Amino acid sequence: MRLRMLIPVLTVCLLALGCSNDDTASPAETGGPSSTTSTTTTTVPLDPKPGSPGVDGEALLPNAGNGGYDVSHYTLAIAVSDDRSSIEATATIAAVATQDLSTFNLDLAGLDVASVNVDDEPAGFSRNGDELTVTPEEALATDAEFVTRVEYSGAPQPVQDPSAPGTIGWLSAPSGIYVASEPIGAKGWFPGNDHPSDKARFTFEITAKNADTVVANGVLTSKEPAGEGRTTWTFEQSDEMATYLAQVAVGDYDLIESTGPNGLPIRHAVVRNVPADKREVLDLTAAQIEYFEPLFGPFPLDAYGLLVADAGPEFALETQTLTLLPASWLLNSDAEFTGMVMAHELAHQWYGDAVTPARWTDIWLNEGFATYAEWMWEDHAGVTPLDESVTDAMGQAGRWREAFGPVASPAAPLLFSPNSYEGAGIVLHALRKTIGDEHFFEVLQRWASENDGESVTTEQFETLAADVSGQDLTAFFAAWIHSDTLPVMPA
Ligand code: TRP
Ligand code: ZN
Repeated sequence: MRLRMLIPVLTVCLLALGCSNDDTASPAETGGPSSTTSTTTTTVPLDPKPGSPGVDGEALLPNAGNGGYDVSHYTLAIAVSDDRSSIEATATIAAVATQDLSTFNLDLAGLDVASVNVDDEPAGFSRNGDELTVTPEEALATDAEFVTRVEYSGAPQPVQDPSAPGTIGWLSAPSGIYVASEPIGAKGWFPGNDHPSDKARFTFEITAKNADTVVANGVLTSKEPAGEGRTTWTFEQSDEMATYLAQVAVGDYDLIESTGPNGLPIRHAVVRNVPADKREVLDLTAAQIEYFEPLFGPFPLDAYGLLVADAGPEFALETQTLTLLPASWLLNSDAEFTGMVMAHELAHQWYGDAVTPARWTDIWLNEGFATYAEWMWEDHAGVTPLDESVTDAMGQAGRWREAFGPVASPAAPLLFSPNSYEGAGIVLHALRKTIGDEHFFEVLQRWASENDGESVTTEQFETLAADVSGQDLTAFFAAWIHSDTLPVMPA
């Protein structure tokens, strides 16, 4: 719903004596001569300007995301063709204007846009690179809630960008499609505010042929026949989610359901060609959640599981509630390696997913935490002692900092360098040594609980650590994350 600013612009009293202080009284009610008083009410769209094509302060990826509005909810209705090569889709985006908007942008790469509506009125639109500019029929006022509906179709193409470790976005294998968008691949399959500072809730209504299995973030809420041998699957992601964490998979997947700690629904989707004995490693999930909960706090989302897909780029991705894992790892790697990656992606559900960096420069808040969690799990599981992981990383971190700079200010093509992973894992170990175990785990838990659903900055983390420990940690953080030389690990 859109609100319009109604401002009485002209109330003139021609006869001073005829003026009433009661401004609710109309000329007719006061009985004054109508020729002496005139009231005109005009719509004034305060000072509408185009929303920015990027996000303020996003130095690394200046065209990622957009300014001028905040999305609260996406409904993505996507019909996947029987051969899975193309989609017919409608994105319904509920947002609030954060300025008076004459136009605003959505991020969208490729695909054909058939129409854009704002509040059920046809809107103008134009495309320039990966920016879709929408011109609503009437300007939107600050704080106005508005709903944008984009009808689009085509064959989603993977997004190539030097900031990503591989090809990202909507990806396909003969066994099915799946998604891996970090950092800016979501624009390859739906129009949105593709930036982690603008988290939203999601509904997915995915239609595919009956033989296909469909999974997406969150919880399956209905599965209805759609005619012509097709089925519509609806999923609710009722926790806030960053666009890069959205997941939809359609294809030859087996669904495996169980219940985890505290009744948490666990559902894995595993590409059919992975034999039963190779799937056993997935059973570690419950034990990993049980191990992490006392350290990080309660699992922050509605469900969890792994999507084991024929993923070409051999990366796992912490897509919210449904981590993407390449089938090749289950088929070819040992359970210790796969278990370690599973622990890493599970830890991201707290650090990255529930609590998300507001800017890509803060990526160490994701990868450093997940790496440290992975080290703790390996220590717990008897794979590698924590001290050995720390010592190993310390042995290389000096070179990483020379090559990649300070941990908290990566360059765009090096977002996912070892400096953001092991090079940031050691920062958490150094913090633990500096403030002690009790304060350290209180910091980790409060970081998750107090910022659940939010987008956060490095400065907020520094403040929390100082508050919890009661120590001035300015010098600590200057040395460990803002400097390009490696400090000495505290004993
Ligand atoms: N965040 C992933 C991890 O846990 C790494 C990653 C970044 C990634 N971008 C990706 C994986 C794109 C797959 C696709 O380490
Ligand atoms: Zn990670």
